[in-house]
Amino acid sequence: MNWWSVVWRRWALAAGAFLVVCAPAVADAQDAPGYFRQNCASCHTIGGGRLTGPDLKGVTERRDHAWLLRYLPDPKALIDSGDPIATQLFQEARGVIMPSPPLLTPDMTEALLAMIEAESALEKSQFVGVQVSDRPFTAQDVALGRSIVRGETAQASGGPACISCHTLGSVGALGGGRVGPDLSKAYERLQGRKALAVWLSAPATPMMQSVFKSTPLQPEEILPIVAYLEHSAQEGGEGTAVGMVTFVLLGLGGAVVGLLVFDGAWRNRFRAVRGPLVEAAGFGRRRAGGGDK
Ligand code: HEC
Ligand code: HEC
Repeated sequence: MNWWSVVWRRWALAAGAFLVVCAPAVADAQDAPGYFRQNCASCHTIGGGRLTGPDLKGVTERRDHAWLLRYLPDPKALIDSGDPIATQLFQEARGVIMPSPPLLTPDMTEALLAMIEAESALEKSQFVGVQVSDRPFTAQDVALGRSIVRGETAQASGGPACISCHTLGSVGALGGGRVGPDLSKAYERLQGRKALAVWLSAPATPMMQSVFKSTPLQPEEILPIVAYLEHSAQEGGEGTAVGMVTFVLLGLGGAVVGLLVFDGAWRNRFRAVRGPLVEAAGFGRRRAGGGDK
C-alpha cells in the first residue's frame, strides 16, 4: 500500500465515522438489545456485577413496574423529589447520577424492561459484561495488545486499527491519527483494568461508539489492549523516551536539510547581490581590464 492510499483510507474512515456520528440516532423499540448496548452497558451489567450503576439482574422483580417507568426517563428528577429508593441507589453509587437516557420513548422503556427481564432469566445474559480475568498481565499480553493497537494483528470483527485515529506516546507519533486523543493516559483516566475493559467493550463516546458498534472488540482482544495500555501508563517513559529520540533525530535531520537549503540560497544571494557590489567597488574593473596600470 503506498503512502497516498494509507492517507486516503484514513481520511475516508474518519469522514465516514463522522457522518455516522452526525446521523440522527433513531431508537427503534424493536432493537432494545442494541439500545441497551449503546446506552446502558457502559454502566450496567445484567448478572455481571456492579459497574458504575447496579447490576440490573432481577431489577424488574425487585422494583415496582410503575416506579421503573417513572425512574428511567429522568432519574435525577426522582432523586430530587426525595424518592427514598432513588435516594438510596444514588448514595450507593457514591453520588453518581444516572443520566437521562437519550431518545427514550415510552415504547422503548417497556421494551427495555421486557428485555432486562428476559435476560435476567438466562443463565448467562449477553450483558454480563466483559469478564476480565484478574490474572497478572504477561509480556505476551502486552505484545499482542501493542500489535492490535498498531493494526499489525487484525481484529476478529474487522474493526479499524486504533492507530488510524490515535497516537500512544511514540507509537504512531509520526503516522498515527489525530482524530482521537493520545491513549497513554487512558488507563488512568478511565480508572483501571475493569472499568477500561468494560468501556472498550461498549464505548460510550460518540466516535468510538459509532466505529465499534458494528465491529465490537472481543474479550480476548480487550484483555491484551488493556494490558498494553496499563503497561504504557506504568512505563510512562517507554513511548515518550523513544518518541523524544525520534523527535530530536528528526529535528537534527531537519536542521541539516535546512542548513543545506539556506546555504544554497545564500550563495545565490551572494552572487546576485554581493557580486555587483564587489564589482562596483572596483574589484571587477581591476580584474576585467587592468586599465589603470
Ligand atoms: C453513566 C452511567 C449510567 C448509564 C449510562 C445508565 N445508568 Fe442506570 N444507573 C446508574 C446509576 C449510578 C444508578 C444508581 C442510581 C443513581 O445514582 O442515579 C442507576 C440505576 C438504574 C436502575 C435502578 C437499579 C435498581 O437497582 O433499582 C435502572 C433500572 C437503570 N439504572 C437502568 C438503566 C438503563 C435501562 C439504562 C440505559 C437506557 C441506564 N440505566 C443507563 C448509572 C447509569
Ligand atoms: C475512527 C477513529 C477511531 C478509531 C479507529 C479508534 N478510536 Fe478511540 N477514540 C476516537 C475518538 C474521536 C475518541 C474521543 C471520544 C469520542 O469522540 O469517541 C476516542 C476515544 C478513545 C478512548 C478514550 C480516551 C480517553 O482518554 O478518554 C479510548 C480508551 C480509545 N478511544 C481506545 C481505542 C482503541 C483501543 C482503539 C482500537 C481498538 C480505538 N480507540 C480506535 C477515535 C477512534
